[in-house]
Amino acid sequence: MTALVRLVNVEKIYKTGAVAFTALRGVSLELAEGDFVAVMGPSGSGKSTLLHLLGGLDRPSAGRIEVRDAVLSAMNETALAKFRRTHIGFIFQFFNLIDNLTVQANIELPALLQSGRERKAVRQRANALMERLGILDQARKHPWELSGGQQQRVAIARALINQPTLLLADEPTGNLDSKSGQEVLHILRECNAQGQTILMVTHDASAAAQAKHVIFIRDGRLVEEMPGVDVQRIAQFMITLTET
Ligand SMILES: Nc1ncnc2c1ncn2[C@@H]1O[C@H](COP(=O)(O)OP(=O)(O)O)[C@@H](O)[C@H]1O
Ligand SMILES: [Mg+2]
Repeated sequence: MTALVRLVNVEKIYKTGAVAFTALRGVSLELAEGDFVAVMGPSGSGKSTLLHLLGGLDRPSAGRIEVRDAVLSAMNETALAKFRRTHIGFIFQFFNLIDNLTVQANIELPALLQSGRERKAVRQRANALMERLGILDQARKHPWELSGGQQQRVAIARALINQPTLLLADEPTGNLDSKSGQEVLHILRECNAQGQTILMVTHDASAAAQAKHVIFIRDGRLVEEMPGVDVQRIAQFMITLTET
């Protein structure tokens, strides 16, 4: 079986003035279609950098990134932007919704930005997503009228509206109370059960344990990989990563 996502020796060097900082040091990784992978690692280890590169928000300094047939590492800015719109859904810790748009408009926006989408079809899909995520009765409200958990569900619906090849989540439960966090994880698991490929950065071992696989990075290197089931083992490994 061919991998949906493939990273080969990916490096990322940030240059600020005369100072260069290497955030990723030769990461190689494959994700199968339908996988649900959690990324763990100490703060500053390169987790968000990895996510940004996979989502085409930034380009690697060296190495190769492929998502399905697209070679991201060879794309210019225009091609990357198109790739992002077509293939990637993002979910962030702080939701990043547009405050002066309604819930419905937030969710529909990425689809309406795609050329050739019919308004009616977009509306139908948005309604179906809102119903599935339990926020249909919030459609006409604005993000600031919702709880954190509801806002994150809106963000998930927005991320799914274009049926992305890959759903990327950067600490999606990091700003939620534990009950809302569990609801969000439940939704992500359901999406995955329906075939959605997901990569999720998290600090939380119990969140990571919901994924099929967990990968650990430290100082820009992939250091361990394990199945998602065993929350104790995940938590223990995180402790050794942070302490040693
Ligand atoms: N745009 C940037 N410019 C310079 N350094 C950056 C930039 N983004 C991240 N870094 C640095 O790269 C390292 C990894 O960052 P990041 O990927 O955000 O880590 P994590 O998400 O694991 O906390 C950190 O030391 C951070 O300071
Ligand atoms: Mg981060």
